[in-house]
Amino acid sequence: MRCTSLAFIASSLVPSTFAATYGLIDNYVGSAFLSSFTHEAIADPTHGRVNYVDQGTAVAQNLTFASGNSLVLRADDTTVLNPSGPGRNSVRIRSVKTYTTHVSVFDVRHMPQGCGTWPAAWETDEGDWPNGGEVDIYSTSDFLPYSDGTQKIEGVNDMSPNAMTLHTGANCNMPASRTMTGVSTATNCDVNTDGNTGCGVQATSANNYGPSFNANGGGWYAMERTNTFIKVWFWPRNGGSPPSDVSSGSGSINTDAWGTPAAFFPNTSCDIGSHFDQNNIIINLTFCGDWAGIDSIFSAAGCPGSCVDYVNNNPGAFTNAYWDIAAVRVYE
Ligand SMILES: *[C@@H]1O[C@H](CO)[C@@H](O)[C@H](O)[C@H]1NC(C)=O
Ligand SMILES: *[C@@H]1O[C@H](CO)[C@@H](O)[C@H](O)[C@H]1NC(C)=O
Ligand SMILES: *[C@@H]1O[C@H](CO)[C@@H](O)[C@H](O)[C@H]1NC(C)=O
Repeated sequence: MRCTSLAFIASSLVPSTFAATYGLIDNYVGSAFLSSFTHEAIADPTHGRVNYVDQGTAVAQNLTFASGNSLVLRADDTTVLNPSGPGRNSVRIRSVKTYTTHVSVFDVRHMPQGCGTWPAAWETDEGDWPNGGEVDIYSTSDFLPYSDGTQKIEGVNDMSPNAMTLHTGANCNMPASRTMTGVSTATNCDVNTDGNTGCGVQATSANNYGPSFNANGGGWYAMERTNTFIKVWFWPRNGGSPPSDVSSGSGSINTDAWGTPAAFFPNTSCDIGSHFDQNNIIINLTFCGDWAGIDSIFSAAGCPGSCVDYVNNNPGAFTNAYWDIAAVRVYE
């Protein structure tokens, strides 16, 4: 009993900045995405074979469908494209609100899958990139070669696990060895080195992406950003033992109880607080992309012909190129 009361006194004196408890501030579910996110009908910065449409078009074509506790974001899966016309209709949504230190929890039932698909859930400041930072939470974008020359092909065609990556301004490096379940694939986060590879960590847990993720009912990705570290966790829907505050969508969470993260980005050689500013949450789905060797990657993944031709001519191949998101919850 003495220990208990001492512990109680001690904990009541600890400043709240040391606690890893957070309260829910934004609960994006179903139609809330239509009022709290903007459809970005922009030219794809990565020159993918995509045509991002505005919200009116997306809803009219049922590419965006928000109802109950489901947000579906899909690509057009009925139109054969004119090779000299725009790319395949798809969506890219960005939160109206921005966040600094916070926790984001993505409760996802289904990720886009299929040859040539390139989905991402991430956070950045588009107006101040790269100095405002970028955290890729679920991303297949890191296709550029590693500094050792090997090709990165995470998930582009359902081939490889999810990559969790920081992209920053100069002077942000990660230690090669740190406490996480994923595997470090690059340690320099500066976008001006290594062709904007960023500092990536490849997920190693079961069912973390693509067809097996979907067959297992999806799961939860969560990202904690403080001024001294960034962590990303993943728990599959079935068999992943998610913390109960995550799986229940609790009003408060305690990240200290979440165990070893899939990716850990500490401040050892990176002043995290100064490399990240007000970031929006972005969810996008594009196709192919303009990196050298895309078609050899595409065929190595067992996909037929060239990526762009495939996207143009096979609308039915994109029936499973959709997100089904149960919720995005933000805690501060
Ligand atoms: C729109 O998409 C949703 C989600 O896939 C589906 O349930 C619904 O039936 C579709 N509506 C129409 C009119 O096709
Ligand atoms: C999608 O997200 C990734 C982040 O992984 C980003 O680098 C890329 O520019 C985005 N692509 C498109 C086409 O919006
Ligand atoms: C790095 O982060 C730790 C906590 O994770 C903190 O105690 C330390 O002061 C930070 N160091 C710097 C240089 O910011």
